[in-house]
Amino acid sequence: MNKLNYENKTFHIQTFGCQMNEHDSEIIAGILIEKGCKKVEDISKADIAIINTCSIRENADKRFFGTLGQLKKLKEKNSDFVSCVCGCMMQQKHIIDEIKNRYRWVDLIFGTHNIHEFSDLIDKTINEREKLVSIWKGGGEVVEGLPVKRQFPFRGLVNIMYGCNNFCTYCIVPYTRGRERSRRPKEIIKEVEALVKDGVKEVILLGQNVNSYGLSKHRGGYSIENGDMDFADLIYALNDIDGLERLKFMTSHPKDLSDKLIEAYRDCKTLGKTIHLPVQSGSNNVLERMRRKYTREKYLGLVEKLRKVIPDIAITTDIIVGFPGETEEDFQDTLALVEQVQFDSAFTFMYSIRKGTPAEKFTDQIPENIKHERFDRLLTLVNKISEERNKTFQDTVQKVLVEGESSNKKNKGMLIGRTESGRLVSFSGSVDLVGKIVDVKIIEARQFNLIGKLV
Ligand code: SAH
Ligand code: SF4
Ligand code: F3S
Repeated sequence: MNKLNYENKTFHIQTFGCQMNEHDSEIIAGILIEKGCKKVEDISKADIAIINTCSIRENADKRFFGTLGQLKKLKEKNSDFVSCVCGCMMQQKHIIDEIKNRYRWVDLIFGTHNIHEFSDLIDKTINEREKLVSIWKGGGEVVEGLPVKRQFPFRGLVNIMYGCNNFCTYCIVPYTRGRERSRRPKEIIKEVEALVKDGVKEVILLGQNVNSYGLSKHRGGYSIENGDMDFADLIYALNDIDGLERLKFMTSHPKDLSDKLIEAYRDCKTLGKTIHLPVQSGSNNVLERMRRKYTREKYLGLVEKLRKVIPDIAITTDIIVGFPGETEEDFQDTLALVEQVQFDSAFTFMYSIRKGTPAEKFTDQIPENIKHERFDRLLTLVNKISEERNKTFQDTVQKVLVEGESSNKKNKGMLIGRTESGRLVSFSGSVDLVGKIVDVKIIEARQFNLIGKLV
């Protein structure tokens, strides 16, 4: 379509949710920049606004509708303003219906499976002033070669697979992202090589369950049956790319974590000593009803293996409290597991009912007050342990990838960066260091971050 239409146009993207969504937003930005648009940080200065939504918990839904309300005001001020909504919420019919009924001024709605169509959709919306809804139901083929505008020049987010086949009973993701499809190793390696040439220091491989890379036989995706690389092999291949300094991946599902991958930590210098391994619960009853397909004992066994090979590995996790039927005893099992594993940090969530998931129908839902009370007890324990783990870094020298200037008022004028194990460090230094890896001595360990000085 006519590129002229986009000249002098500005856009703003607001992203909710996980790094998959962050990366989808990088693609949307890439497409708009290729058309000649300019990105702006202030939404009130934008001609095109995109809200990329997440549906993982109820409060994510609520925040979205709050944000939509704000967009309406911008639309009232400027009739040329174009509002687009996309992401996981758009894969649910009841949400689309609500937008169509209550937020009629939204111009373009698209889903998670047709981001590659965004270029044509926005052309139509702008040129033909047409309101559009375009959602694909299933997970289609893997589309390669879309433009990307990285949020951080030094960090590359790389999808290695899409979708999820696990259907944990609480989770909406398999419904919003479709079946598991893996990208071909050749394409992933080519992309990482290009990123490194373009100045990227750290690559984060993305997938809902990276350990099952290539295991699904979904039509159109890569399968190790017709190839030769599993996830660990892919890690070895990427580790060999000259100039790549750090390689991470999200998320590892405990059920498919292989010994071969654990060994890769020993052999691959780019793999940071850190793993995010969501446990969700320490109770076998709850794990079974969540359909996680591992037991508490299996999880603890994995932690032991990991620590045997990499004694100082940082292990982080996700935990849900108040899942239907969770008894006080089940919850005590979770607390005991947290105590035993000593997680470096843990994201803790109160169970939130998701429409259309099996757990929505469970009749033994936990009252809100009990969820809150358990959540508070868990958080106190998790924070105490994080602080203790942070203290072990006191007086050590860490390699820190500098991310930018601190936005925290207390640390004004300071830089922030991350250690190899993913901990946040603040320290004084020049902004020229952003995007570089520097040595920092830790002089103070706080509950959530570290304070250091350049050495
Ligand atoms: N694929 C990843 C998780 C992605 S979702 C995995 O399986 O580990 C991120 C986290 O959100 C989950 O680990 C879980 O702890 C939390 N979560 C997902 N659905 C939830 C729900 N309905 N209520 C509360 N927390 C939820
Ligand atoms: Fe959701 Fe489970 Fe898939 Fe993770 S593995 S995305 S929690 S269904
Ligand atoms: Fe949210 Fe979708 Fe990610 S539901 S957590 S944005 S996959």
